[in-house]
Amino acid sequence: MTDEDSSDFLRVVATEEDIRLALDRLAAAIRADYADRDLLLVGVLKGAVMTMADLARRLPATVPMDWMAVSSYGAGTRSSGVVRILKDLDADVTGRNVLIVEDIVDSGRTLAWLVANLRSRGAASVEVAAMFRKPDAAVIKTDVRYVGIEIPNEFVVGFGLDYAERYRGLPFVAALAPHVYGGAPS
Ligand code: PRP
Repeated sequence: MTDEDSSDFLRVVATEEDIRLALDRLAAAIRADYADRDLLLVGVLKGAVMTMADLARRLPATVPMDWMAVSSYGAGTRSSGVVRILKDLDADVTGRNVLIVEDIVDSGRTLAWLVANLRSRGAASVEVAAMFRKPDAAVIKTDVRYVGIEIPNEFVVGFGLDYAERYRGLPFVAALAPHVYGGAPS
């Protein structure tokens, strides 16, 4: 086990304070919107673990959470929109108000598939809360009702976002230095 090196990062894209304030804002909006409806949080493993943990602690403790793990078939690092379920929900979503909790919407392909999949199971409503969104990278426009922080279209890690399974535990989000992932030095 070795500590991360600050030279692994080019710059901080979202500070811990930015993330905390965004979570407060998201939770307040969700509390208001679901004041008179039951809610089921559906986290998408693994990236959404941090967002789910921090969001759920800002919502009533009675709100249930469930998890899905999906794998996107794609060429190289790009998701294709063809999604395979690695771990399905434990809950039956029929008639339930589902809120998908994501760490990031990048191309939007994973999310578009997930929303369609959960709707097809008879959920009463399906909405999305995403901690981060890369607007420049959106290929498929999906309605994301709750967006934490818009971030630039860079290779970022932290707060659930990984590079080769590393850096998910970083409490802030940073642009990864090219030397870490084998890119050309900037
Ligand atoms: C990430 C992220 C989203 C998806 C977004 O998951 O958590 O689910 O990619 O990309 P898209 O908008 O281009 O579809 P990833 O497949 O990297 O798995 P992870 O959560 O385990 O890191």
